[in-house]
Amino acid sequence: MLQIQENISLKPYNSFGIDVKARFFAEIFDEADLKTLFQQELVRSQKILVVGGGSNVLFTEDFNGLVIKISIKGISVNTTDEKILVTAGAGEVWNDLVAYCVKHHYAGVENLSLIPGTVGASPIQNIGAYGVELKDVFESCTAFEIATGLIKTFSFADCHFGYRESAFKNELKGQYIITGVTFRLSAEAKINTSYGAIEAELEKRGITDPDIADVSAAVSHIRVSKLPDPSTIGNAGSFFKNPVIEKHEFADVVAKHPDVVHYPTADNKVKLAAGWLIEQCGWKGKVVGNTGTWKNQALVLVNHGGASGREVYDLSAQIIDSVQSTFGVTLEREVNIL
Ligand code: EPU
Repeated sequence: MLQIQENISLKPYNSFGIDVKARFFAEIFDEADLKTLFQQELVRSQKILVVGGGSNVLFTEDFNGLVIKISIKGISVNTTDEKILVTAGAGEVWNDLVAYCVKHHYAGVENLSLIPGTVGASPIQNIGAYGVELKDVFESCTAFEIATGLIKTFSFADCHFGYRESAFKNELKGQYIITGVTFRLSAEAKINTSYGAIEAELEKRGITDPDIADVSAAVSHIRVSKLPDPSTIGNAGSFFKNPVIEKHEFADVVAKHPDVVHYPTADNKVKLAAGWLIEQCGWKGKVVGNTGTWKNQALVLVNHGGASGREVYDLSAQIIDSVQSTFGVTLEREVNIL
């Protein structure tokens, strides 16, 4: 039964653990709930925020509108000769889906183990880790169109995926609520251990011919050792994107900083490691009031307890200034600021 609650704390609904209030709040368990919700006069006039795991958001003030928490569950599988299509409800926890696929030997998402958040959020920012991005396994998704109340299907081409980008963050922003995602997986694993840390971890474990369960375990281990656990230390993963710059801009950076960590991109640009840039500016592990950067990964800002969103935001602004003046590179926030 659909319920709209008033003035509720959003602390349990954001991985930063920021204590702000929502004017209205509704939890959605199926597509029919969404239809019912948007038929209400009250809802039509509200500012809307959709959350899944709340793992990519920083609240800097109370949300004076309706927060919709998507809890649509369910995983189903459709197998044909050449492919395995796995469809998951938007409210499934991302890592539960990964665990399900690894258990059933459906290959393709193992490198994305232990990414926080839900299935519905995964295409929005094209989540990625350890050499794989969501777009590599994306088949299609379904979404509720707010203006019409209809469910629409989006193909790979419709989504305009880029590095931590998609149409849902850009031209379609605010118009759709993702209800389910279908992934194209494979019975034949294409093991991808090209990301250095995975190879090293497998070697440490004495594994020379890894299967997807081995890759998943290695990735999970690396993440746990590097990244803070949001259930004890509030955070939203990488706070900034790794900046992608033109080759001529890179020439200036590398002339002054020959050891700058960088990677070529497919479109002939250069991606810099934001964590490295931030560390070089002296921020790694620094505690500033109730906030700071993580001791093992400077790209992650944390709430050491009781931080306000404003404090975290102000720290991020100081980091942007410092990277700008040291390297002449502008960091862009990856986390949604509200
Ligand atoms: N580095 C430093 N100091 C730091 C952090 C990193 O020098 O404090 C260096 C590392 O030594 C390495 C390079 O920077 O040479 C890259 O570091 P890492 O492998 O940790 O990855 P990342 O580029 O910092 C990205 C994603 C992560 C993802 C990892 C692994 C972005 C914004 N972040 O981080 O995704 O888990 O690669 O694939 O692309 C997230 O988006 O929330 C996230 C955690």
